[in-house]
Amino acid sequence: MRNIAIFASGNGSNFEAIATATQAGEIGAKVSLLVCDKPDAHVIFRAKNHQIPVFAFSPAQYADKAAYEAEILDQLRALDIQFIALAGYMRLIGKTLLEAYPHRIVNIHPSLLPAFPGKGAIQQAYESGATETGVSVHYVDAGMDTGPVIAQRKVEIAETDTLQTLEEKLHKIEHNLYIETLKSLFEA
Ligand code: GRF
Repeated sequence: MRNIAIFASGNGSNFEAIATATQAGEIGAKVSLLVCDKPDAHVIFRAKNHQIPVFAFSPAQYADKAAYEAEILDQLRALDIQFIALAGYMRLIGKTLLEAYPHRIVNIHPSLLPAFPGKGAIQQAYESGATETGVSVHYVDAGMDTGPVIAQRKVEIAETDTLQTLEEKLHKIEHNLYIETLKSLFEA
């Protein structure tokens, strides 16, 4: 069974969806580690509920990105992690991890990339007056949401949508699309 790590910084609804799907045998992988850069994030509580090991760290306690990524890499190697899924991890991945996991780090983003990269993507789409937005799963490179897209799903922005209803629709699609995409990547 392939060991994967999920990196997250906040709520962790995507973490929860992937952890549940892997534990139900729906994805050919096991979530063997949560990496979290915010030691009080809700996602840590979710990992403990699923009995998934956690590596939580505070970036401010390290000299630089290379220093904390070196420690993350030690943890990943100790658990024989073969693949990384970012799910609301609010940091750019640096050279250390990109070189150790070439083409084996993916991310989910709530827009139809290349539209609306970065923070606040749902709000930006909502305020732009667009009639559709969506969700993208993509390979991670050194940029902000810039790597090659693997899968996308469109979502209509209805006239009756509020920012909150749009967010709810997108999050539901995210969970399904992330699970389906991981499943097909691991079957390939
Ligand atoms: C999601 O919208 C994801 O696309 C983005 O950050 C959010 C994380 O949500 N990268 P959650 O923590 O998984 O609930």
